[in-house]
Amino acid sequence: GPELAAVVANGTIDVPDFPKAGIVFKDLMPLFADGAAFRRVVDGIVARYPDGFDVVAGVEARGFVVAAAVAYATGTGVIPVRKAGKLPRKALSATYALEYGEATLEVHEDAFIAGQRVLVVDDVLATGGTAGAALDLVERAGGTVAGFSVLMELAFLEGRKRLAPREVHALLTV
Ligand code: PRP
Ligand code: MG
Repeated sequence: GPELAAVVANGTIDVPDFPKAGIVFKDLMPLFADGAAFRRVVDGIVARYPDGFDVVAGVEARGFVVAAAVAYATGTGVIPVRKAGKLPRKALSATYALEYGEATLEVHEDAFIAGQRVLVVDDVLATGGTAGAALDLVERAGGTVAGFSVLMELAFLEGRKRLAPREVHALLTV
């Protein structure tokens, strides 16, 4: 609700012109650094999925922070969705356009048990390129997406449209 949105807003610093001119970078590290605030937002994500999920997938790098905490809070495990070239075994790849540049995400091809319900998390939903690639990878690897949850959504970039019809949850939409 509005209280959680305020917690996210209060823990975020807008950094103009990073990593390049014209981009306002949303730095959520102050939120991660505040123990009480971090616990509240993690519990807020968990509360959104009363039917639960079997495992949490987090997107490198800032999604790892959220994913590990959500997994620990629910007694589930974490599947890292990694940037290209980091995984040691056979992996599936998805390349996407970022708000700034291009990137490739990968997941081990045997990361999921068929039909496993996967909650995918990240810190920010911007253009939706990252999330779209991550969700594609989860599905291609045999997982069933139980939801996609972020701390902050930048609505003006319309990332949510790219992810439809999948359900997206954001604690704060700006
Ligand atoms: C940021 C953010 C999201 C993504 C959102 O990650 O953490 O993952 O951008 O942007 P999009 O919706 O336009 O794809 P970034 O790629 O900057 O890397 P990081 O998490 O490793 O810092
Ligand atoms: Mg990221």
